[in-house]
Order: sequence, then C-alpha cells, then structure tokens
Amino acid sequence: MSGHGPVLPMSSHKSGPLRGVAEVPGDKSISHRALILGALSVGETQITGLLEGQDVLDTAKAMQAFGATVTRDGAGAWSVQGVGVGGFAEPSNVIDCGNSGTGVRLIMGAMATTDIAATFTGDASLNKRPMGRITEPLALFGAQAYGRQGGRLPLTLIGAAAPVPVEYRLPMPSAQVKSAVLLAGLNAPGQTIVIEEEPTRDHTERMLRGFGAELTVEDTPDGRIITLTGQPELRGQSVSVPRDPSSAAFPVCAALMVPGSDILVPGVSQNPTRNGIYLTLQEMGADLVMENPREEGGEPVADLRVRFSALNGIEVPPERAASMIDEYPVLAALAATAEGTTVMRGIKELRVKESDRIDAMARGLEACGVRVEETEDSLTVYGVDVVPGGATVQSHLDHRIAMSFLCLGLVSRDPVTVDDASPIDTSFPIFEPLMAGLGAQLSRDA
Ligand code: S3P
Repeated sequence: MSGHGPVLPMSSHKSGPLRGVAEVPGDKSISHRALILGALSVGETQITGLLEGQDVLDTAKAMQAFGATVTRDGAGAWSVQGVGVGGFAEPSNVIDCGNSGTGVRLIMGAMATTDIAATFTGDASLNKRPMGRITEPLALFGAQAYGRQGGRLPLTLIGAAAPVPVEYRLPMPSAQVKSAVLLAGLNAPGQTIVIEEEPTRDHTERMLRGFGAELTVEDTPDGRIITLTGQPELRGQSVSVPRDPSSAAFPVCAALMVPGSDILVPGVSQNPTRNGIYLTLQEMGADLVMENPREEGGEPVADLRVRFSALNGIEVPPERAASMIDEYPVLAALAATAEGTTVMRGIKELRVKESDRIDAMARGLEACGVRVEETEDSLTVYGVDVVPGGATVQSHLDHRIAMSFLCLGLVSRDPVTVDDASPIDTSFPIFEPLMAGLGAQLSRDA
C-alpha cells in the first residue's frame, strides 16, 4: 500500500521570531486536476509548480494505470500525454489512492462514464471515509459501485457503457462531489448540470474551460447552476500551479502567533472560493497584507506579508465555511492564543475529512490545556494567555492536524508532541525544513 512512511513523532518548542520568505508548495486541488484533465485530453499537458506530495503522486500513478503517460521532467515540472475523453483503459491492478479523498473521488468521476471497471483502495484513514456521496450521483450516469458497508473503500466501480447526462443538486457543500459529477459528465452525451447551494472551490470549472470544454456558471436565487456540454475534445494545456493557500495558512498562522515574527509568503492563490481564512484572520486583527496582487495561470495570486499580531477571538461567519474548510484546524490552534472566544459554526463536513477534525482538534487542545466546546457542527475555543502545552496529541493520519499542533507548540510554555507527523508528506513535504528555515524549533523524536 502506498502512503506515508514509518511513524514519525515530532515535537515543536517555544521559538523566537519567525523571519524570512516561505515558499510553500503548489496547490493540491489544482495539482490533482492538472494531472486528471491532462490525462483526459488529447496531446500534451505541461505542468509547472506541481505539488510533489504523496496525494498527488498517487494520482499521477493512477493516471498512468488508466493509460496516460506521466513524466517528471524536473522539480515540480511534469508532463502528461493524455488519452482523450472516454479514452481511459482498464487498469490491470487495484488503484491505491493512499490518503487522498480528492484523488479517489475525482478519479472515480473521471472513469465512471467509460466502459471499464476499476477497484480503488486507500490507507486506514481513506478507507473509513464516505464514498456514497460519490457513488450515488455516479449511479445516475449508469455506473455501478460495489464497496464495503456504507460505500466504503475498497470499492469496485463499473463505468457506464451507455452513459446518460444528469442533473444533480449537491446535498452537501463539496467540491469533490461537484468535480466528480462534472468529470463524469465529460463522457456523457448532452448537458450535465450541477447545482450547488453554497459555492465551493471552483478549480474544476475554471480548468475545464481552460482545457476547452463548454461550461457555463449561473448564479441564481436557487443556487449556482453549472452546465457542462458533454463529449468535448479537451486539448493539452500548459498549467502553472499557484502556491497552496491551505498550506500557506500554516506559516501565516505561526507568524501571527510567535511574537516579533515578520514573514513573506509569495505567490499564494487568492481564489475567492479559497481565501476565507485570510478574511477571518484580518477580522481577528491580523497584520496581513496582500501585496502585489496579480493573475497567474488563470488564478488570482498575491504575496502575503504577515507580522505578529495580538488577535481577538471572533464568530466566524458560517457562510464562509466552504471557502476555508481545510483551515479550521489551524484556526482552532491560533484561536487558543487569541484574546477571548472563537466560535466556528456550520462545520460538520470537518467530521468526514482525513480525520474527524472537530474531535481531533478538541481532544488535542484539551490535552494542551485549552478549554473547548464542541457540538455536532461547531467548535468553540477559549483563548488563554499562555498555552500550557506539554502534551502528546494524536494526528489520526491527518496532515493538517499534525501541522496545526506543531504550529501551536511554537508558542506553548512546554513542547507539543505529535504522535505521527508522517502524513504531512501528503500535502506539504517541505513543511519541516521550511518552518525550520523561518526559525521554528522542531525536533524529530526517537
Ligand atoms: C477539495 C475539496 C474539499 C477539501 C479537500 C480538497 C478539492 O473537500 O476539503 O482538501 O480539491 O476538491 P470536500 O469537497 O469534501 O469539501
């Protein structure tokens, strides 16, 4: 099974000011999509700035298993020779997506309307996560799924031999579900329509257009209506992947917490479906400036200048949840150091991420001496003057839980230890040297 390496306990220690330039890796969402759309295109796609984290490497391997040629030309520089829409070949072996919900869900969508079968599996975290949210809409196209109870992986998907287009209203705000339906719609004749009540990250829509698909987006009182015309000829493109705003949130929040810090995080995507954390930090009183805003590879980007700030707890507007869904763990860590109370509501989707992130953050913060309250869909964190720390917290095979607590340890009285930091490789393989380069005191424990 692919995945992270051996168990890696790691501790973070009270640190001096963080200073310097933090060049975070490429965006994970866009990296997966660049490989998948490249594989579904005719001709060559050239990608620069690809995230070389395990999640994306697993998707690259999967695209090869479906018949595309994927080549690493240099650091972050990859090329894909695609097989065209409907051109996927049947893989000769099980597709192992490791830790990646995005990888497995998007790939299932991409193959669901081709007359082939594939079996998918993942690591212990991924095999616990719900796949019914994908297999139900894919069944409307004519695909059949045979998984474990609750639609869990390992799961075999038999693609529709004669797919029909669908109209689907998302039952939860999920870019993965939206993207799976749109990718399946590529090989269905006619128009596939997805309706989302709350806008979620729109990289699939932007990139489908960029690769030559006909796709319209209409904002109506009834929600956002996305209409894709099936069976386009997608053409290979050059894709420049911006830096990941979700990864950038870790050094940004660390700099806000550690007194005297002053860092620059260049070239970070500021896509409005992803930037909720930055609006929230500014509302908490962060000295965070978006310098040099510009467009790169079809995405708005900016250089983030961040200086230590005394922050106040706030109520995060629940309607912002989709645009910062991956940033609640690090926000919860940061909230422990803010003055007053931070209330995060409307976040029940966090319970089905790489771990149950509400529970993982609540238990870890309590272990570090921070008071929290949780409900099924909310988390409240009570700020303290000095976070006691001095605890070992469980990462639950979840990269963002591990990184959040390692950031918190930089300002805790006593070190914070994460039982296993190896999952960080899935999304931010240079986290440890990058943070150390800024002045963070991290140690690997025997
Ligand atoms: C992602 C969508 C989100 C997010 C994940 C990446 C994507 O998941 O949490 O890290 O690339 O589409 P959901 O669609 O389940 O909310």
